Amino acid sequence: MADRVVLAYSGGLDTSVGIGWLKDATGKDVVALAVDVGQGGEDMADIRQRALDCGAVDAVVVDAKDEFADEFLMPALKTNALYQKRYPLVSALSRPLIARHLARTALELGADSVAHGCTGKGNDQVRFEAAVAAIAPELTSIAPVRDLALTRDKAIVYAEEHGLPIQQSKKSPYSIDQNVWGRAVETGFLEDPWNGPIEDLYAYTEDPTVPRDADEVTITFTAGVPTAIDGEAVTPLQAVQRMNELAGRHGVGRLDIVEDRLVGIKSREVYEAPGAIALIAAHEELENLTIERDLGRYKRDVENTWAQLVYDGLWFSELKRALDAFVDKSQEHVTGDIRLRLWGGSAVVTGRRSAESLYDFSLATYDTGDTFDQSLSKGFIELWSLPSKISARRDLGRP
Ligand code: ARG
Repeated sequence: MADRVVLAYSGGLDTSVGIGWLKDATGKDVVALAVDVGQGGEDMADIRQRALDCGAVDAVVVDAKDEFADEFLMPALKTNALYQKRYPLVSALSRPLIARHLARTALELGADSVAHGCTGKGNDQVRFEAAVAAIAPELTSIAPVRDLALTRDKAIVYAEEHGLPIQQSKKSPYSIDQNVWGRAVETGFLEDPWNGPIEDLYAYTEDPTVPRDADEVTITFTAGVPTAIDGEAVTPLQAVQRMNELAGRHGVGRLDIVEDRLVGIKSREVYEAPGAIALIAAHEELENLTIERDLGRYKRDVENTWAQLVYDGLWFSELKRALDAFVDKSQEHVTGDIRLRLWGGSAVVTGRRSAESLYDFSLATYDTGDTFDQSLSKGFIELWSLPSKISARRDLGRP
């Protein structure tokens, strides 16, 4: 039996042509693996059939939506994970999940290698290969677009010559990657960072400048994970899907940033992630209510490190897993309700309550009922500023 390679298959031009291209170049039989992470669009059964029509010896479809939400999106939400303070890691979160399925399928089928359709310029190639290396170090990764120089023009010619069932007419000028956590759009006229995004780019969000009434929504979290929306119990996947609808209607979560890729390039990226941005805003505020000060301050540094590790393809690294343990521990008391107002492109917290709240009215109030002993502050500040006072004496030469 010929060696096998398991290809992460999207159903698009590059990976469809990649099936024959891989077989020709390596002599290996190609098994296509299509993973549903909530990207929507085409039916997975049609994608599977196309892989077979393009010459795959087998094609496997995995519905990984709940797995993606439970094991990848919830850790990101608990961490309030944003790369460069803004990007909720949409593509970066799906790659380790797809890679895990690639590696497992390869091991099950006795394949010696896996393949993906990434170019040599992006982060995704690193994420796939670094994840596979961490899960199944004996597997080899092949990237036909990068390693076999499969350009788009060559792909079109190959598809025509071999009569592959690909429709060129649907070709979009953009490179789009989407899943239930959001959508990334790049290339085309966006490559000039002075060009503003146009309405046409967006699919998960409505134009936030169109006048409409605000909506309110209450999200209930249990230990950092959303468990109900407006009182109705939800799974993690349902929470993200529901918030995509509710926040998407108000144009929440549109982002336009110049991003520092791991490979050193700065790239201009447009994203929309209505559910992710609304959920992170809500979760972060519930933490403000329920997490002790020093833990909260320390966690903000952890969040940034976690986001950078995940962006850089190190989902399965030891440091990332250790930080997960810290984040999980930090979520013990992050239980309660957050009320969000959705309007005009933003999700704003307008109310918070929790049985685990650390907010103490009688300490915080400036009205009658105040139990805070203000006389203690005087001595506290004396000692707090003592080091500054001593060094100032030295530096200024004063007694
Ligand atoms: N720049 C983003 C990231 O690295 C999005 C990548 C999107 N991938 C794509 N093939 N369009 O996470």
